[in-house]
Formats: sequence, C-alpha cells, structure tokens
Amino acid sequence: MIKSIIEPFKIKVIEQIKMTSPPERQRYLEEAGYNPFLIDAENVLIDLLTDSGTAAMSAEQWAAIAQGDEAYAGSRSWIRFKNSVQNIFGFKHVIPTHQGRAAERILFSCMVKNGDVVPNNTHFDTTRANIEYLGGEAVDLVIPEGKQPATLHPFKGNMDIAALCATIQKAGRDRVPLVMLTLTNNSGGGQPVSMANIRAVRKICNEHQIPLYIDACRFAENAYFIKLREEGYKAKAPLDIAREIFSYADGCTMSAKKDGLANIGGFLATNDDTLAQQEKNLLILTEGYPTYGGLAGRDLEAIAVGLNEALHEDYLNYRIASTRYLGDHITREGVPIVQPPGAHAIYIDAAAFLPHIPRYQYPGQALVAELYLEGGIRAVEIGSVMFGKPGPRPGEEIPATMELVRLAIPRRVYTQSHIDYVVEAILDVWSRRDKIRGLKMVYQAPFLRHFTARFERV
Ligand code: F0G
Repeated sequence: MIKSIIEPFKIKVIEQIKMTSPPERQRYLEEAGYNPFLIDAENVLIDLLTDSGTAAMSAEQWAAIAQGDEAYAGSRSWIRFKNSVQNIFGFKHVIPTHQGRAAERILFSCMVKNGDVVPNNTHFDTTRANIEYLGGEAVDLVIPEGKQPATLHPFKGNMDIAALCATIQKAGRDRVPLVMLTLTNNSGGGQPVSMANIRAVRKICNEHQIPLYIDACRFAENAYFIKLREEGYKAKAPLDIAREIFSYADGCTMSAKKDGLANIGGFLATNDDTLAQQEKNLLILTEGYPTYGGLAGRDLEAIAVGLNEALHEDYLNYRIASTRYLGDHITREGVPIVQPPGAHAIYIDAAAFLPHIPRYQYPGQALVAELYLEGGIRAVEIGSVMFGKPGPRPGEEIPATMELVRLAIPRRVYTQSHIDYVVEAILDVWSRRDKIRGLKMVYQAPFLRHFTARFERV
C-alpha cells in the first residue's frame, strides 16, 4: 500500500503566489497593526483565513458556468440546481440565497420571536447573531467532551441529549420554535455529529413536536466521518449517508461556499408548505425571485455540480487525510491542537502554545502574527480578540473560554507540498516560542472588533 497522500485531481489553471521575504512581511504586518485581516491577500503566501468561498472549481463546474441561464424566472440553471439539491437533501422546498447567513435570517425571521430559545450543538457566529437580533436566545448544548481541546472522541460535535431535554423542559415547548444541529460543528473545532446522535435528537423533537433543522455547511465531510467512524456505515456511499442524515430533519440552511465547492451561494430547504410560502415572500423582499434568490444562473450551475463533487469518495478521503496529516505532524512535535483533527481546519491551542503570554496580551493573536512573519501564512484568532468581553472595571477584560488559532484549509486549492510548508513554518515558530511576546490592542471598533483591531508588541 502506498502511503503518500496525493490530490485526486490534476491542475489545469494556476494562480501565481507572490513570494515575500521576512523583512517584507515584517513591514506588511506592522502596516496592518499585527492584524492579518488588514493585510492584502496578494501579500499572503498560504491563506488559511477561511474554507468559505475559497474552493477551486473543477473543469465540470466551469463548463456548467458557461451554460448559465440568466432568465429571471424559472431558468434552466434553477431547475438543475433544485434537482441537484433535492437529489441529495430530499426536502420538498428549496429556496436559493446568496449565502448561508441569508438563509438563516429568512428561516429565523419566519420562526423565531422575542423570548424564544433555539438549541444547537454550537451556533456559528452568524446563526447566533441572527437569532439574538430577533430577541431569541441561542443555546449551545454540545457534549462536555466537545469543549475540551485535548479529549479524544469520535463525534465531539454531538449534542448533549440530557441537556436538550432539560432546556426544552425549562423553556417550555412553546418557546422552542426549532432545534438545530451544525454539521460539522465549526465553532467546536470542526467536529462531526454521529448518525445515532442525529436520530436521538430527532426522537426528542418528535416527542415535543419541534422541527429539526440542520446547518448543513459541511454535510459531506460529516457524512464521511460517519462512514469512517460509525458502526454500520463502512460500506455505504457518502451520498446515501447524507440522504439518511437529512431524512431525519424538517429542513436545512446551507452555505454552498463550503461543501457546495462554490465561491458564493447557499439555500434554505424545508418540508413545510406554509413556512416555505412565508420564506419565499421574505426572499422576494430582500434576496430576489425564488428561482434565483440573489444568485446568477451561473452560480446556481456551479453549486449544482459542486454539491455532487463534494460527495466523491476519493475527494473526501484526500480532504480528511490531508488535514489530518497537518494536525498529526505538528502534534507529534508537541504542538497542542484541538483533537482529533477535523476535516476543514486545524485549531491550535494558543494558550498552551504560549503559556507565558497572559490572556490580556492575546496569545492567539501573537501566534497569528508569528505564523505570518515566519511563513506568510494567514490564520485567524478565535479567542479573546474575537470573544473577549469588557470586565467590571474600566480597561478590564473577561477573556474568552479558549484561545484558539484556526488554520482553515480551502478545498482543492493547496497541494501536499503547501501543507508540508505549513507544518515546517509552525514547527519553526514552536521551536522559538519562549521568545514570542504578547500584543497590546491600540484600536478597537465598538463591535466585531477582530476584523479591524490594531495592535502593538508589548
Ligand atoms: N454556518 C456555519 C457552520 C458556518 O461555518 C458559516 C460560515 C455559516 C453558517 C454562514 O455562512 O458565510 O455563507 O453566510 N462560516 C465561515 C467560516 C465564514 O469562516 O467559518 P455564510
């Protein structure tokens, strides 16, 4: 058996990477106030900021794009899109949107009212924000293992069933308009949810007659983890596993920028006729006519093809192996990461990586800055810069629960040699970790400060 991981594709079109020297990177970093969000992408060598909208499309997708039908209503591209979505997800109504959060906004606007409670394994930021914007409470009920970075568990994204029951009991059925499951659990380290857990959540939903919706962004990766790790799924195709997952749900929200292998797009799906009508009415108000929902016909084509490619077994096998390779190689040298590696990203535990840097000097941001300096790698801090809250006294801050740095891997974009380069850069930073200093925040916006904050070295 040959062990080398190879990309199950050849490269037809290339995009030049501009090489930069350490002194150049020092200058770019200082100009950006030590915040890589403020560095031009051109000056980034390996961009691991997100796996969203950053995929490389296939020749088949580009060929489909050339056939985009831009008719306003009922275009051929819409029909292809709808058929492709229904073939996998199986829901009766499909409503295209320009991306995932638009689907969330429309779903919650129709279902959630002031004082409602929405349980999820872990809400992604936009999901939480859209619920809170309507006066609802977004409750995270992932199993305890899902909150411990070093603990091993095959399905760390699972929902805590006892906590779900208690939450419904406490709020009362009438205040829980829906239950959600995020596949995979992005905010919890990209960890999968098992089929048994999805079934158990469905059972509780049935008992209380509460609809179950799936945040399906990374459904194909989750399906593949089920195939690899759950009893009884070894011989099943990812498509059949995905179909079973969605058979337990009443609908879903989807960002096609992830497992749709597209650069933009999303959708909302449901089996509820009345709800679908309300959603379409709202869609017309803000997104577009229900057969395009803010997308061009060519975008619908790219997604129709991409959803199927994301379920190819060779692709999923390579995807998971490649991310795992990155995680395992840095773990072997002692770098602390969220275990086990997920499919779309590796999360480094920056508080454990840089224990000498106090939380108020942002160890995660300091590590992000060093990764850029060392290798031109752009990662994102998911810690106290993103989630720190003002403390009781002026200037004081309550740190986030964890100080993580996410290295998100765009789909089909980087090769194994790029991954080797990332491993080497991380290990170089690791070997000189004692000398890395913390950062002081010198500018912050009143909300979502991580996008524009500026820092200086302590
Ligand atoms: N749900 C999950 C689990 C997500 O990861 C995202 C986006 C969304 C919903 C929203 O979708 O961006 O199309 O509006 N996650 C990206 C990320 C931004 O970098 O993790 P969107």
